[in-house]
Amino acid sequence: MSQVLLDNVSKIYPGGFKAVRNIDIHIKDSEFIVLVGPSGCGKTTTLRMIAGLEEVSDGTIRIGDRVVNDVLPKDRDIAMVFQNYALYPHMTVYKNIAFGLKLRKYPKAEIEQRVLEASKILGIEHLLSRKPKQLSGGQRQRVAVGRAIVRQPKVFLFDEPLSNLDAKLRVEMRSEIKKLHRRLRTTTVYVTHDQEEAMTLGDRVVVMKDGVVRQNASPLQVYDSPADRFVAGFLGTPPMNFFDGKVVFQDDQVFFDDGATKLLLPSQRKASLEKYKDRAMVLGVRPENLSPKPNGGQGNAICVKIDMIEILGDKMDLYMRSSGKSDIVCRIDAHAGMKEGEDLNMYMDMNRVHVFEPGEMGKNVTLEPGSSVC
Ligand SMILES: Nc1ncnc2c1ncn2[C@@H]1O[C@H](COP(=O)(O)OP(=O)(O)O)[C@@H](O)[C@H]1O
Ligand SMILES: [Mg+2]
Repeated sequence: MSQVLLDNVSKIYPGGFKAVRNIDIHIKDSEFIVLVGPSGCGKTTTLRMIAGLEEVSDGTIRIGDRVVNDVLPKDRDIAMVFQNYALYPHMTVYKNIAFGLKLRKYPKAEIEQRVLEASKILGIEHLLSRKPKQLSGGQRQRVAVGRAIVRQPKVFLFDEPLSNLDAKLRVEMRSEIKKLHRRLRTTTVYVTHDQEEAMTLGDRVVVMKDGVVRQNASPLQVYDSPADRFVAGFLGTPPMNFFDGKVVFQDDQVFFDDGATKLLLPSQRKASLEKYKDRAMVLGVRPENLSPKPNGGQGNAICVKIDMIEILGDKMDLYMRSSGKSDIVCRIDAHAGMKEGEDLNMYMDMNRVHVFEPGEMGKNVTLEPGSSVC
């Protein structure tokens, strides 16, 4: 087991495209860290640089205390699980799992012992003599993980290992990977574009966009205290609602004015919002912090019309339009008796709203100091 340290790491592909831009990520020994972000943000590139499959253009990567920039992949003591499993079709499951050990000339008895132990952990002992084509997607995935486990590496690297599985199996395998990590405690870097997978698996979540780390914090911190508008909108379904407007001070109180409604912000926000007075800003509120029931707050109602209702079972999503012309979604009890076309008031939990600077990457200016980093 080992720490993995990325310091000021960049990747410029031949042709000049900068896929990863000066990132710093420090992964502690035994930690499970998830790199998450939309397609093309540089997750795979980062993982491949840790694995040694891609050269580092700038910066330093350490595994343990050793700088590995110039160390060959096979000498880095890491094991990688790929999205497409990369099993050898002509080999049995046993041989697939044993392959890496055989290549490294481990004694036969030790190979056998390790393969049997890994297959027991993964519940695939009965499949050892089959070929990959005789396996289901989930079973193939287990074999790919087995091949990583038997190596007993210092670090596991996973690149979207569950994205070829159907939704139910994905959730099942997700909890198996979590249990596996609890058992083995191997330092793990896990890449996914799926924010739910990131939140459920990671001790820590690194949110990336366009080759840049936007936030690096615990799952709850990135959810409750998003560093910027991109992170706020990327995590959570349905996503956070955003309202354009401005911050105004009046009668010693601070409001967010979207042109139609003045929403009263908590007085403890006054200090951090002072310098944004009369500036165009963006208010963010999560769907679960909006409710058709008054919640005892003051100046927190907005007039909306319900455009569309989507029933999800015990919950429903209401798609609405505010009198200030913003699109809004909220998720509430499906039995609340709402109708499409209805006009009503929605009440915000003003203690849970965020104020962002304008623009797609606008900074969250309402964070408590230290709430957005581990
Ligand atoms: N070999 C390559 N040469 C040039 N550009 C590449 C290469 N591999 C990836 N890219 C580009 O780098 C960016 C990041 O890619 P990647 O790390 O695969 O993203 P992700 O895994 O987050 O989807 C993308 O814009 C991609 O097109
Ligand atoms: Mg990728």
